[in-house]
Amino acid sequence: MAASPVLIHHLKLSICTVLLLCLTGTAFAQLRSTYYLLSCPLALPIIRAEVLKAVLLEPRMGASLLRLHFHDCFVQGCDASVLLDDTENFRGEKTAFPNNNSLRGFDVMDDIKHKLENLCPGVVSCADILAVAARDSVYALGGPFWEVRLGRRDSTKASWSDANKDLPAPFLNLTGLITAFANKGFTRQEMVALSGSHTIGMARCRTFRNRIYNDTNIESSFRESKQAVCPAVGGDDNLSALDGSHSDGNCFDNSYYKNLVKKKGLLHSDQALFNGGPTDAQVRAYVHDSSLFFRDFAKAMIKMSELTPLTAPHGQVRTNCRKVN
Ligand code: HEM
Ligand SMILES: *[C@@H]1O[C@H](CO)[C@@H](O)[C@H](O)[C@H]1NC(C)=O
Ligand SMILES: *[C@@H]1O[C@H](CO)[C@@H](O)[C@H](O)[C@H]1NC(C)=O
Ligand SMILES: *[C@@H]1O[C@H](CO)[C@@H](O)[C@H](O)[C@H]1NC(C)=O
Ligand SMILES: *[C@@H]1O[C@H](CO)[C@@H](O)[C@H](O)[C@H]1NC(C)=O
Repeated sequence: MAASPVLIHHLKLSICTVLLLCLTGTAFAQLRSTYYLLSCPLALPIIRAEVLKAVLLEPRMGASLLRLHFHDCFVQGCDASVLLDDTENFRGEKTAFPNNNSLRGFDVMDDIKHKLENLCPGVVSCADILAVAARDSVYALGGPFWEVRLGRRDSTKASWSDANKDLPAPFLNLTGLITAFANKGFTRQEMVALSGSHTIGMARCRTFRNRIYNDTNIESSFRESKQAVCPAVGGDDNLSALDGSHSDGNCFDNSYYKNLVKKKGLLHSDQALFNGGPTDAQVRAYVHDSSLFFRDFAKAMIKMSELTPLTAPHGQVRTNCRKVN
């Protein structure tokens, strides 16, 4: 029995309506923690295992993965734009001034992506891997845990100029830091909490030279010990732990704030948070209550990792994080 033309017409109409609904529905797609539950149930355990492996091999990698996520989200939103290599169409973000010879962890991202592509091809976005890897890194180093909502998609472009414009510089004063974060929708309080990331990881001499030779709000024995690894001329890439309280600086705790109160902030921008200004009280509060810092940090990280994410139908799931499909 042939279907009547009227019925077919009706069917077509409703398919169109449903399709339209789906499209408009997904245009406002919400991130959700169960996003890969059916499509790639092992995605999260695999990312966690790979992050743990990398951090055990080299503890600093946890810091590097956290920073990679930050530098992704502040430029075009959390869309893995930071992972794209240069192409003929755009200059990537990797060689922007805050990133050049500084960002690390690209190989770890490749390893994780490779594993996930073998298991569930074309399903898990690089942007989601970055968000989960940052969370797992912090947790692996003793920091707080938070639930990461998923469903970000990967961009098809990156922006060298936005990376230079949108990422905060270490020579900024408090006003400059507040402005840089306000430009991305963050409060002063969230900026202070997120800066606690510098409880882990390293910085190159070139980023703190001016502070240790020119700043006056610096503890003198700390200044001398840093000048010993960072000469006034040369040694631009000599490294120092951002958290001066221990040599490897790879434990996620509130010692970053304890150092600030002792005028032992490594970057000029670090010490700006405790320099007789309006953020001093918050720094003191974190010194006295590390669980308060952990709670505020986790909340601010969730907000950061949901900074204008790309969601379906926009963007794509890259099969290679370094290249557009
Ligand atoms: C408040 C403004 C900030 C400034 C001015 C700043 C600046 C810097 C600088 C200059 C370095 C050293 C880079 C190098 O020498 O190669 C660094 C490292 C780092 N930053 Fe920030 N940062 C800021 C905020 C943040 C935020 C919000 C996060 C994370 C949410 C973060 C995470 C890190 C980490 C983990 C490292 C160490 C990376 C490693 O050892 O590989 N930073 N930052
Ligand atoms: C990035 O660093 C390389 C050295 O590794 C240098 O040749 C290049 O000029 C730098 N790029 C920028 C934009 O600073
Ligand atoms: C902060 O830095 C900006 C730009 O360098 C400068 O104009 C401003 O006066 C500084 N603010 C304070 C309070 O030092
Ligand atoms: C200290 O500041 C002066 C004046 O701004 C500058 O010329 C000099 O290069 C700075 N020294 C270092 C080691 O950064
Ligand atoms: C720092 O750099 C200088 C000049 O390149 C070098 O002589 C020195 O050994 C380095 N210091 C450390 C502690 O790595």
